[in-house]
Amino acid sequence: MRSKLSPTAALVAVVMTAMLTGCNKTPPAPEAAAAPAPGTPGPSSGGAGDYASSAKVFEERILPIFKSPDPSSCARCHLASVDIKDYILPSAKDTFLALRDQGLIDLAKPEDSKILKLINRGADDPKGAGLISAKKQKAEYEAFAAWIKACAADPALKGAPKPEKAPALATKPVEVVRHARKDQMLESFETNVWSLRFRCMNCHTEGTPQNDKLVKENGARVAWFKKAGTEATMEYLFSSKPTDTENPEKSLLLTKPLGEVKHGGGIKIVVGDQGYKQIRAWVEDVAAMKKGKYAKAGDLPPTETGPRQFGTEAWLRLNTTPAAWNGKLLQVDVYAWDAKAGAWEKELVATSDRVSGGGGWQHTVTLLAPAGSDREKAWEKGKPSLPPGKYLMKVYVDSGEKAKRDWQAKLGPDEFVGQAEFQAQWREGYGAMTVVDAGKIKK
Ligand code: HEC
Ligand code: HEC
Repeated sequence: MRSKLSPTAALVAVVMTAMLTGCNKTPPAPEAAAAPAPGTPGPSSGGAGDYASSAKVFEERILPIFKSPDPSSCARCHLASVDIKDYILPSAKDTFLALRDQGLIDLAKPEDSKILKLINRGADDPKGAGLISAKKQKAEYEAFAAWIKACAADPALKGAPKPEKAPALATKPVEVVRHARKDQMLESFETNVWSLRFRCMNCHTEGTPQNDKLVKENGARVAWFKKAGTEATMEYLFSSKPTDTENPEKSLLLTKPLGEVKHGGGIKIVVGDQGYKQIRAWVEDVAAMKKGKYAKAGDLPPTETGPRQFGTEAWLRLNTTPAAWNGKLLQVDVYAWDAKAGAWEKELVATSDRVSGGGGWQHTVTLLAPAGSDREKAWEKGKPSLPPGKYLMKVYVDSGEKAKRDWQAKLGPDEFVGQAEFQAQWREGYGAMTVVDAGKIKK
């Protein structure tokens, strides 16, 4: 029995001994513990000594992890919904029983325990080397490995019957864990927020001349579309001031471009338009995740089935719009001509919306590609763009201000004001916009 005491546990005992010696107290010498005193139960009957050592390892190495206010190493890949603390309970025995009964501990081969695999994921990835989280990961792994080994060597714990009522771990269902994984979140961030960067006209894109100038005037906070790319931007927005976890709809990411809060860039979106919908959906999701509001799969937002979105700097303009459209949200959906089929494509290829001005409407277009399509692949690899040619636009005007009342409402047949065929070059830049006369729009 005693010989199974793990090296780490033994080390702890030695360190403890040293500390106690320093206090002039009589230490329980490890040698003494290794040889059972006459009369004490033999190895076959199990001994309190092993329980004490596993309890000690728990107290000294697992509890500090549990009590630490810092996020665990899991945060490197899981934005929320999972933390090593969720696998720990205040009592050593409860923790052991809970992990054992969930199949997370392998008593025959402690080193193969599933909890160790969860902790060690990505440990050999060179990208993680040198990160603070890598050090944490190693410490968490070693602590759990030592403790599980000590538990496995303790017959009293090992064979403990499954308790009728046991405190439960705070772990979340796999669907919830999956949803908050960084790689999963990245996709929705790309579609919802990253694709808007041209609508925010480079003012917030780090490294552009516009942004450099604004940073000089306003500080680094305006450079939130990070040069390092989508992941860096998502991580920044996930945990910084522009995203309000308590009141998602009051996030600066919304209130600034809405003009609800004084904004150096003026009014850029209105409640219920595409930009608003996208940002709002993302901040709501982040807030729910961070507040732990997702308890079961059914609490998660519906998976995004819509097309992938790609922001562009290509502008579209409608000239001489009717006065009745002035001040109303106007949406333009664009369809491409399929020369082979001799018909308009069925799926939208681009869209844009913005409040119509006096005498005209103009905005950058967002390109759309079904997930898995060739177009999506091409746009992911290169610069998203449309070829010059013949296109069809369908125009919707929200005269009844439906979107303002319900930010999730979609404009449909009730708002349809007509369609027009047009030729487009789709050249980029404000000065090269595609212009269509609104008089051509017919029902
Ligand atoms: C290096 C990245 C990385 C780290 C660090 C990481 N995980 Fe994971 N985790 C993943 C990936 C990727 C998956 C999905 C694996 C799969 O689907 O096969 C996953 C899946 C999981 C699952 C299962 C949910 C499912 O999709 O079936 C749990 C539970 C989990 N991780 C917990 C943790 C805990 C606890 C930690 C910290 C101790 C942690 N992970 C650290 C990347 C990581
Ligand atoms: C013409 C330039 C311009 C455009 C376009 C613009 N902004 Fe801004 N924005 C600014 C300036 C300047 C500031 C700094 C002054 C302030 O806080 O209002 C700012 C501040 C912000 C902040 C506050 C950042 C912080 O941490 O304090 C947010 C959030 C923001 N803008 C969001 C947006 C969004 C979203 C869009 C696009 C939909 C947008 N802006 C478009 C110029 C612009």
